Amino acid sequence: MDHFQLRDGILHAEDVPLPAIAEEYGTPVYVYSRATLVRHARVFRNALSGLKDPHIAFAVKANPNLAVLRVLANEGYGADVVSGGELTRALAAGMKPEDIVFSGVGKTHAELQQGLESGIGQFNIESEEEGYELAAIARRFGKRAACALRVNPDVDARTHEKISTGKRENKFGVPFDRAQEIYAALAEEDGVDMRGIAVHIGSQLADLTPLEAAFEKVGSLIDSLRASGCQVTHADLGGGLGVPYKAGEQLPAPAEYGEMVARVTRDWDVQLMFEPGRVIAGNAGVLLTRVIRVKRGIERPFVVVDAAMNDLARPAMYGAWHDFDAVEPTGEKAISHIVGPICETGDTFAMDRECDVLVAGDLAIFRTAGAYGATMASSYNSRGFVAEVLVDGDKHAVVADRIAAGAIMDAERVPDWLEG
Ligand code: LLP
Repeated sequence: MDHFQLRDGILHAEDVPLPAIAEEYGTPVYVYSRATLVRHARVFRNALSGLKDPHIAFAVKANPNLAVLRVLANEGYGADVVSGGELTRALAAGMKPEDIVFSGVGKTHAELQQGLESGIGQFNIESEEEGYELAAIARRFGKRAACALRVNPDVDARTHEKISTGKRENKFGVPFDRAQEIYAALAEEDGVDMRGIAVHIGSQLADLTPLEAAFEKVGSLIDSLRASGCQVTHADLGGGLGVPYKAGEQLPAPAEYGEMVARVTRDWDVQLMFEPGRVIAGNAGVLLTRVIRVKRGIERPFVVVDAAMNDLARPAMYGAWHDFDAVEPTGEKAISHIVGPICETGDTFAMDRECDVLVAGDLAIFRTAGAYGATMASSYNSRGFVAEVLVDGDKHAVVADRIAAGAIMDAERVPDWLEG
C-alpha cells in the first residue's frame, strides 16, 4: 500500500496534489511519501516479530537521500553502506555508528579506516584479502573490528542477471566451500572479531525458495563452524525482497518472508541482521514528469516526456517495468510508446504500453521509483540532476536541490595549455 492515490480525479502524494508539486518545484522531480516509508519500515519490522531482537539496516544504496535516511533512523533503522560516501550520509542522517554495517566487495584502505574510525557496528568482509587488510589496520589503531564473512552460496536467485549476486561466478562473497577455512584463519587475527556469516543473493526476488536455500546453507555452515570451535553469534541475511512494479502483481509479502526466516533459523541461536532496500523505499517514491509532446509514430504514438534514462535508469539498464499513470486521467486509454528526450533508443520507458491518453503539457508519474531511482541518476546529454521532494501529510519540502547542467559544467576546467 502506498500514498500516491487519486483524489477527485487528481493524483496526490498523501494530501498534496501532484500538480502543486510540479508547479512549485518543476519537473522532472522525484516525490517521496513519508507515510509510505514509515508504513513499509513498520510492516517489515512486524514481519520479523517472531525473531529475537533482529537488527535492521536499510540498504542506503536504494535511496541515500538524507531526509529519507532520517525518516528511517527515526524508525530505529540502522544502515547498510557500501562506500565511504554512504557511511558519511548515514552518520549525517543520524544513524548510530553501532547500527551501521559496511558491505561491498571493494572497500578501499581509506574506507576500511573510515569505518573503524567511525566505530561502525560490523564489517561484512567479502574476501580473505580484505579480512587481513582490515585486521592490520585495526591492529595499528589498537582496535578490533566486528566482522561477518560474506559467503557466496552458489544459489540462483532467479532475478535479472545484473542484480543476481549469489551464484559462484558472481564477484560477491567467498566461495562456500572455502568459507569455513577462511573464517577460521581470520578468527586467529587480533584485529578482527569474526562473529558471523553474511549472505545476499540478489535483488527484486519474486520467490522465497532461493532465499530459503541460501539460508539453509548458512545454517549448515554455522553448525560446522561451531563444531570446529569457532564462535558465531550473528548472521546477516541481506536484503532482496521484491516489490510489485505492476498494479495487481503478487509477490511474497514481508510476513511470508518473516515466517520463512523464523522457521529456517529457529535453532541458529544468533542475532539476525537484515539489509532491506527496495521493499522499504520502492513504492514510497514516484518520478513526476511532464509530457513534452506526443509525436505521431508509424503504428503507435511516442509520448515524449521530460524525464529520461539519466533520471530513472532502470528501464534502460534492466528492461524494468514502471507503471506509468496520468496525474489527471480522463479515463481514456491508448497504446503508446513512452520515451525520454535522450539521443539513444535505450531511452525508452515502455513500448506498446496501454496507458492513460496524454497530450503535451500533461503530468504523469512513473511509479515505484523510490528505490534505485534518483540514486542511479547521471548527467548524460548534459542534463542536470533532478530535484527530490518529501511529502508528509499536507507538508512538502525539497530534500535535494535540482542541480542544473550549468552547475555541473562549472566544475570543469579548460587547461591554459589548450588556449589557442
Ligand atoms: N545488501 C546488499 C549487500 C546488497 O548488495 C543489496 C543490493 C541490498 C542489501 C539491498 O537489496 P534490496 O533489498 O534492495 O533488494 N540497481 C538495481 C538493484 C541493485 C541491488 C544491489 N544490491 C535495480 O534498480 O534493480
